[in-house]
Amino acid sequence: MNCRSSTMHFVFIGFIMQSALMRSADTINCSQPTAESLLQALRESVFGKTEVRPVINPRTPTKIQLGFVLYAVLDVDEKAQILDTFIWLRFDWTIEGLSWDPVECGTDRITLPRKKLWRPDIVINEFISDNQAPKTYYLYLYNNGKAEDQLPVHVISSCNLDIYTFPFDIQNCTYTFSSYKHTIRDVQILFLEPVEATLKKSLKYMETKGEWQLTDMSARKSANSSYFNMDGLDRWDELVYNIVLKRRPTLYVVNLLIPSYCLITVDLCSFLLPPQKMDRSAFKMTLILGYTVFLLLMNDLLPVTGDTIPLISLLSLYIKSAGPKV
Ligand SMILES: *[C@@H]1O[C@H](CO)[C@@H](O)[C@H](O)[C@H]1NC(C)=O
Ligand SMILES: *[C@@H]1O[C@H](CO)[C@@H](O)[C@H](O)[C@H]1NC(C)=O
Repeated sequence: MNCRSSTMHFVFIGFIMQSALMRSADTINCSQPTAESLLQALRESVFGKTEVRPVINPRTPTKIQLGFVLYAVLDVDEKAQILDTFIWLRFDWTIEGLSWDPVECGTDRITLPRKKLWRPDIVINEFISDNQAPKTYYLYLYNNGKAEDQLPVHVISSCNLDIYTFPFDIQNCTYTFSSYKHTIRDVQILFLEPVEATLKKSLKYMETKGEWQLTDMSARKSANSSYFNMDGLDRWDELVYNIVLKRRPTLYVVNLLIPSYCLITVDLCSFLLPPQKMDRSAFKMTLILGYTVFLLLMNDLLPVTGDTIPLISLLSLYIKSAGPKV
């Protein structure tokens, strides 16, 4: 027997023994069917391993199932190109090899402080501010090793907002969920549920009935991003959600469009007055006053961005140029 094959044997046996050891260490036994005894058993086998991904073979990627519900659209800031929303995020993963007998331990799931376990570092790439949502502390751990984490997130995200058709504009914003550090070799992200279900739940639970209305959502899985890897071999697994929001234009129609059309109509009709009469200039002076007030109001209502102006701004151009012609 040559030396090389005996080394191979040794490594192989060592590997089997190691995984067998790890497996038996993770299948936990409770002395009594109480939470106390389950906790004691978990303390010995799972707690304190927050630093390493819970897999038996380090080459196995951890699969994260991710889903969310869009709970509120708080603000859309055209100038800063920011979308301000609130979501309920949920992600599930599995602690490999961990299991317990629900009869022996008295329960099939237990709540645990989040910091006791390894957690994936899921982020939304468009995120540009702190999460100001209420802090939460617990997650569920199931007897088959599944961990289920859920948390509220106040998402202040960047979005490319197009205001050309204001106030009848539709915005299409993106949330890209991915692990911040783990690449596709270590962490893979899957859909917890189809995007249709996410849309349906979001429409059901959404509390805000403000200026913006959620109309559609689409999602796809992508693994094309390789931000910092110059060789491009390691990629990040991502879930890309597109969120389509439509502005409710009533406020702007009532305060902007109707008054301006009235002013313009009255202005045009004023040419029917005989020009010699004093009445016409007095009438025009009143109109100019009306225009001025209206322009001030309009400046407050119109959104501004860097390089596009809404089409409706042409109205104000018209008023500015046509107004003073007495
Ligand atoms: C739990 O019990 C099983 C079967 O009785 C045993 O194989 C395993 O080693 C035990 N696990 C621990 C952590 O004691
Ligand atoms: C939103 O943008 C995505 C990607 O750019 C596109 O696939 C999708 O069709 C857009 N949705 C709408 C309603 O425009």
